[in-house]
Amino acid sequence: MRHIQFPSSLIPSRKDRSGTPISTINQIDTSAYSEERKPLIEMQNIYKTYNTHAGDFTALNDVSASFYPGQFVSIIGKSGSGKSTLLNMITGIDRPTSGKIKIENTYLQELTESEFSEWRGRNLGIVFQFFQLLPMLSLVENTILPMDFCHMYPPAEREKRARELLKLVGLQDFAEKLPAAVSGGQEQCAAIARALANDPPIIVADEPTGNLDSKTADMVLQLIDELVRQGKTVLVVTHDETVARRASRTLVICDGELVDEDISRMLPSISHRSMLKLSHQSVELCKQPNEDIFASSNSLPGLMLILEGKVALRGANNHRLASYPSGSILSGKFIRNTLAQKKTFRADPHAAARIKMISVEDLESTVNTSRSMQIFMQKLEAGGPSEVIDIPEASKNR
Ligand SMILES: Nc1ncnc2c1ncn2[C@@H]1O[C@H](COP(=O)(O)OP(=O)(O)OP(=O)(O)O)[C@@H](O)[C@H]1O
Ligand SMILES: [Mg+2]
Repeated sequence: MRHIQFPSSLIPSRKDRSGTPISTINQIDTSAYSEERKPLIEMQNIYKTYNTHAGDFTALNDVSASFYPGQFVSIIGKSGSGKSTLLNMITGIDRPTSGKIKIENTYLQELTESEFSEWRGRNLGIVFQFFQLLPMLSLVENTILPMDFCHMYPPAEREKRARELLKLVGLQDFAEKLPAAVSGGQEQCAAIARALANDPPIIVADEPTGNLDSKTADMVLQLIDELVRQGKTVLVVTHDETVARRASRTLVICDGELVDEDISRMLPSISHRSMLKLSHQSVELCKQPNEDIFASSNSLPGLMLILEGKVALRGANNHRLASYPSGSILSGKFIRNTLAQKKTFRADPHAAARIKMISVEDLESTVNTSRSMQIFMQKLEAGGPSEVIDIPEASKNR
C-alpha cells in the first residue's frame, strides 16, 4: 500500500504572503485531545428549520458541539438525520435559523456572503461526495482556482503549487486532463488537492468515499490520516463504519439532534434512536473520592455508566472486592443484588467519579421500544458488569 508523505513545503506555517502569521494552528501539538484546549470550532444551540409544502421541518434541533485543533471527527447518522445540514452550517453553504457558530475568532453569522466566501476560501478545505470539480477546467486549473479566488500565493507560484499538490495525491500525470477524462477516485483525489490549495486549517468532507471503490477509498482515507497528522482539523460525514473508526472522535446525529457522546461511545451497539432517548433520559452525577454512590439515593437506577474515574465494590470491613474503571456499565439488577448482600459502591479513594444514571422507568420505556436495547440489556444482565477489573485476592485484604 502506498504511504503518502507530505512534503513540508506543502504544509507551510500559517503566514500570509508578507510573512505575517495569520494563525498558529499548524504549530499546535496534536498529540492529545484536551478539553482544556480552546475549541477551534464552537457551535452553540444551532437550529435549522426548512419551510416546506408540508409545513416547517426542523433539520437541526439545538445542536451544540465544540471541535478542537488537530481533531479528526467523524459524524455518522442515518440518511436524512441532518449530517450534511450540520456541515453546511460550518461551511456557510447554508445558514442556521438560529444559534451561533464561532471558528477561531470569527462569528460566522456576522459575515456577509462575500466576506464568508473569502473567509471560507482561506480557512476551509471542502470535499464533497460528488467531487464538484468545474468540468470545463483541467485538474491543475481546478486546483489553482481557490488560490486565484483568495489571492493566496504569488500568481507566478500558483501553478507550481497546484502541480505539487496533484503530485501529492498521485495525479501529476493527469494535471492537464478534464475531470470527465479521469476516474471517480482520481476526481476525488483532485478535489482533495483543490481543498488543500490555500493550506486551510480545517478540512470538512461530506461522504468523501461514498462514491469510491474500497481501494480508492482507502487511498483517500490515507490522505485524510496524513492531513490529521500534519495538524489539520478534519470533520468527515460518513455512512461508512471503516471511515468512522479511523476518527479519534465520533458524533452521532439522529433526527437532527446530537446524541450524547458518552452514550454513543459506551453503548455503540444500540440503535441511534435508543442512544438519543437515553441521552435525554440520563442524569450525570459527580461523586467525590470515596463517596458511597447510593447512600443518599431514594431509588436505584436501571443502568449506571462510569464515565470517568473508578467505582469500587466494597464488602464487609470496607474491603475492596472489585473495581469498575471508566467505561464500565452496571445494570440495575446487578446493583440491587449487590446492595442486598450488604456491599457498597464507592468512588475511588483518590479520584472523583463521573457517572451517568438512567432511571428504571426510563430504561424500561427505551427497552420496550427497541430490540437493540433489549438485546443489550439481556447480555449485560447475563454477563455482569462490562469491563470489570477483578482485584487479585491478595490485594483485596490489604
Ligand atoms: N433545502 C431543504 N429543504 C427542505 N428540507 C431539507 C432541505 N435540505 C435538507 N432537508 C431535509 O433535512 C433533513 C436532513 O437532511 P440532510 O441532507 O442533512 O441529511 P443527511 O444526514 O446528510 O442524509 P444523507 O445521508 O442521505 O446525505 C432531511 O430530512 C432532508 O429532507
Ligand atoms: Mg448528506
